[in-house]
Amino acid sequence: MAAPVGPAYPRSFLWGAAFSAHQTEGMEGGGEHGDWYRFEHETRDGEPTIADGDTADRATDFWSRYTEDLREAKAIGLTTLRTSIAWEKVNPEPGVFRADVLDHYRAVVDAMHACGLRPMIALHHFTHPTWFHERGGWTSSEAPGLFLEYATRVVDGLGDRCDLWITFNEPMILVELGYLKGAFPPGRSSLADAYEAAYQLARAHRLVAAMIHAKQGASPGARGPGGSLRGVGLAQAVAVYDPFDASSAEDRRAAETLADLASWDFVRGITGDRLRFTMPPEVPGAWSFDRAFPAGEPPSLDWLGVNYYMRWLIEAAPFGEVPAEWHTPDGERGDNGWAIAPEGLARVLAGAAARFPGVPLVVTENGLADARDDRRPAFLRAHLASLDQAIATLDVRGYYHWSLTDNFEWLDGYRMRFGLVEIRYDQGLARVPRPSARVYADLIRERGAGG
Ligand code: FCB
Repeated sequence: MAAPVGPAYPRSFLWGAAFSAHQTEGMEGGGEHGDWYRFEHETRDGEPTIADGDTADRATDFWSRYTEDLREAKAIGLTTLRTSIAWEKVNPEPGVFRADVLDHYRAVVDAMHACGLRPMIALHHFTHPTWFHERGGWTSSEAPGLFLEYATRVVDGLGDRCDLWITFNEPMILVELGYLKGAFPPGRSSLADAYEAAYQLARAHRLVAAMIHAKQGASPGARGPGGSLRGVGLAQAVAVYDPFDASSAEDRRAAETLADLASWDFVRGITGDRLRFTMPPEVPGAWSFDRAFPAGEPPSLDWLGVNYYMRWLIEAAPFGEVPAEWHTPDGERGDNGWAIAPEGLARVLAGAAARFPGVPLVVTENGLADARDDRRPAFLRAHLASLDQAIATLDVRGYYHWSLTDNFEWLDGYRMRFGLVEIRYDQGLARVPRPSARVYADLIRERGAGG
């Protein structure tokens, strides 16, 4: 066995891979009650909504084949897996909660434990029951209570076997694509709706965290048995935004504003007493938002998850709907065009630590669309070297690669391949580990974990 390299990773460090319910499970268990199911089966101006007319109807059939995937995770030497619960399956109609669906999720979590994989469970990863939008979706002040009702059922069902929760995956991506740009369900395009949705999502996070703490105890320092991470976190998308022209004060300011709007303001909101978004005054038609949270909905964040993928170069003018123009830096990219920037991982972690001192950090997603697997091995090595740097000085508790297997990549359908394990969609969904699965296994072992 190779000697550990770089800084010492504690035994409790979480080495994992991430995926989500809708992207892998298929529709068994009642997926047809979901907003994405409906969206994938619609057309827009005669065109399919998803690339190639794909749907997640079958996805990777994780619902039935999860034991195969857990075996792959174990073979890599992972110590944890991150997935989500499908709200629409648990809670297909208002006030209706399916015990058999919760039983299924309990079986999946038990199987994870049996493989030595600690579950990290997201209560929300982009999808909703369709009835939720009919009740006003995230712009309704009723929304946090509806989400809390569902989340309480899940925590009651799984809480004896899971103590590592994510309330929301990338809430600001949902706000941007679902409420500002109309690209994701519910397809709304209004800045007022986007601000309101962000506010209600922040309230929902606060309510659910308080509920989990009431049931499982507070998580000071977010440490459980063996010093490992526990408690309630958030998985926030955090990209690197650098100025297009580093000598331009306007470009620097635009890059900072964008980072605040896209990532940090929401986290300030759930850890403080108000949600505030500040648009530069010169943005036409835009205005800022500033609203306190109701009394009795306390701030809460046991740990912060960072989903890191790419770097952008931001140019200030001309101001439009978004106060900047985005450029992709030169250099290597994923199949979807995202710029590969490994040093950015240490930078976003340092940025989070500086803004939220004392909050433990987790890399809840990091990965590459690479169907040929010809850049992923180097991507993994370079990003883990960046993580080595971060862990030398920061309180980072885990790293989850996106993704364990190929899966349904939202608007891109099955075109984009993020898996350490390939899914052969035309060969009965056969699971075939890519060379990078071995690379990740070796990197983990070199850092003192794995088999
Ligand atoms: C993130 C999402 C995840 C997956 C990756 C590639 O934004 O959280 O579901 O689509 O991107």
